[in-house]
Amino acid sequence: TDRYAVFGNPIRHSKSPFIHGQFAAFTQESLAYEAILAPIDSFEASLTTFFNAGGKGANVTVPFKEQAFALCDSISPEAKLAGAVNALTLLPDGTIRGDNTDGLGLVADLIANLGSLHDKKVLLIGAGGAARGCILPLLNAGIAQLTISNRTHSKAQGLVDIFIAVNDGAYASKVSVIQMSELTGEFDIIINSTSASLAGELPSVPARIITTQTVCYDMMYGASMTAFNQWALSQGAAKVIDGLGMLVGQAAKSFTLWRGVEPDTQVVLSLLRDKLM
Ligand code: ATR
Repeated sequence: TDRYAVFGNPIRHSKSPFIHGQFAAFTQESLAYEAILAPIDSFEASLTTFFNAGGKGANVTVPFKEQAFALCDSISPEAKLAGAVNALTLLPDGTIRGDNTDGLGLVADLIANLGSLHDKKVLLIGAGGAARGCILPLLNAGIAQLTISNRTHSKAQGLVDIFIAVNDGAYASKVSVIQMSELTGEFDIIINSTSASLAGELPSVPARIITTQTVCYDMMYGASMTAFNQWALSQGAAKVIDGLGMLVGQAAKSFTLWRGVEPDTQVVLSLLRDKLM
């Protein structure tokens, strides 16, 4: 059996072994997928040990995604722009390829919930690693406009400047930055990529950004509705979605990279939702 694993620290609560186990069962792929706790200072050594012992691919989670990016021999465009890798593949020639499937998983989940993203106006709140990984996948999905807003405005500005420069100005007309206090209700989809919900907090965005047409997506998830999604509903949002589908989506994209088959995400998502409650 081919071996795969997720590396992180902490890792005990990772849902990846369950998700990939379900994918393998449904697609009748023969593989093993485990969770590996890498010591904070020796991620690379743990990974090398795993590959030397026959490991074929690995997911990477907090806090090793940037280290994973640094050790790859080749890198996908999404990972390059994210500056982070969450899926490693040991290629037949012995080199390591790095992908970032987080943003692809988000887009897949948005499409599963809403249909085509074509011509949608999207607001992305936050400018950390989670936001950075989503910019290219959202643009590639055909959205009309991506506006980024962050508590620390300069960080959002820096993120967008780099993104536009790296792409030789190609996206300059589609991506912009705005102060939170200046936001209006012009967006079809609002994505919260901040870690505020982890602390039960809300980003300081004005309530007028939520209209009865607005769909809100919080990358966080939990047994109960996230603080951001509760707030959005209370302001009259049309629909709220949490990040559990993004988690399943990034796993599905990783699985496809490794195995060449596309697993059904919706059945695994509902199993996971049941486990969460
Ligand atoms: P990640 O890699 O998960 O995105 P990160 O790089 O630490 O994590 O980024 C966290 C993001 O959440 C940042 O955009 C941060 O805003 P700042 O750049 O101003 O720090 C945002 N964030 C965290 N807590 C927040 C809060 N209570 N309100 C608003 N934004 C918050």
